[in-house]
Amino acid sequence: MPTKIKGREYGLEFALIVLNFLYKSKALHYGYWGPSDEVNILSFGAAQQRYTDNLLKHVPVDAVNILDIGCGTGIVAKHLVERGHHVECLSPSPFLNAEARKVLPPSTPVHETTFEEFRTDRRYDLIMFVESFQYIPLNHSLTGCLRLLKPGGRVLICDVFKLDMPGKGPIGGGRSYSEFIRQRDALGYACLQDVDITRNIAPTFDLVQDLGMNLMKPLWENARRVGKANHPFLAKTLLWIFRKELLKLNKHFNPDRNAKSFIEYKTYRIQLLAPPPSTK
Ligand SMILES: C[S@@+](CC[C@H](N)C(=O)[O-])C[C@H]1O[C@@H](n2cnc3c(N)ncnc32)[C@H](O)[C@@H]1O
Repeated sequence: MPTKIKGREYGLEFALIVLNFLYKSKALHYGYWGPSDEVNILSFGAAQQRYTDNLLKHVPVDAVNILDIGCGTGIVAKHLVERGHHVECLSPSPFLNAEARKVLPPSTPVHETTFEEFRTDRRYDLIMFVESFQYIPLNHSLTGCLRLLKPGGRVLICDVFKLDMPGKGPIGGGRSYSEFIRQRDALGYACLQDVDITRNIAPTFDLVQDLGMNLMKPLWENARRVGKANHPFLAKTLLWIFRKELLKLNKHFNPDRNAKSFIEYKTYRIQLLAPPPSTK
C-alpha cells in the first residue's frame, strides 16, 4: 500500500508542478523583490532566481562540506556544487528527491529522511535551511546542528518566522521568532549576520492574494455552480465527503493574505550562526 502523503508535502508537490509549468522553475521558495522590480505573476520566476542569487551571497565561500536540509528539488545545492562546495542534501520527500537527483551529480548524496531522524558520522562546515527551518520542530533544529558541525562550522537559516501578534493572522507558516531567538541564545550560538528581507519577500503575497481571489476562487465557484446544476446529488455528496479539505481551501480565498499582512505578522530572516566554541 502506498505511504500516506501529508498535506504540507502534497502542497509542495502541487507548487512544484504549477511553478514548473508556468515559469520552468523548480525552486520551492518565495520570490525576492527590490524596490524597482515589477511585481506581477509573470515576474515570479525571475523573483525566485533573485532569491537564490541573494541567498548565495550569504554562503561562506570557505565552507567545504555543506549539508542542505530540506533541499527541495536541489536547485540551491546545484549552484553550490557548481561553486565547488561538497554538498549533501536531505529531505523526506521521495517526489522532490527524485527531482533533486535529476539535477545533481551522482556524487551528491540525497538523504531521504527528516532532519529529526537523520544519523551520520560526518561533520559539516555549514548546515543550511532554506525555507525549511519552519518544517522542523524548534526543539530539534538548532540542537540537532550542534552534533553535526565541525569546529568552526556555521548554520545558515533563510526562512520566515511568526511575530508575536494577537490572533492567528491570515498567513500560515514559520516558527515563532521570539522562541527561536530564545533557543538560539540559550544554546550559545553567536549571530554573525542577521539580514531582514521581509519587505523583499512580501510582494510574493500580493501575488498569492491575486491567485487566490482572482483565479482559484472564481474557478472553484464556477465548478460548484456547474456541479450543482448538472449533477446535484453527486455534487452534494462530494461536498460532504471533502468538507474538511474544503474548509482548508477557504483560507486561500482571503483578501487579507497579502504583502501588508506578511509585513505585519511575519519576519523573513537570513541569519548566519556560529555555535558555542565547545561544539565538537
Ligand atoms: C519549501 S521547501 C524548500 C526547498 C528548497 N530549500 C528551496 O529553497 O527550493 C521545504 C523542504 O523542506 C523539506 N522538509 C519538510 N519537513 C522536513 C523535515 N522534517 N526535515 C528535513 N526536511 C524537511 C521538504 O521536503 C522540502 O524539501
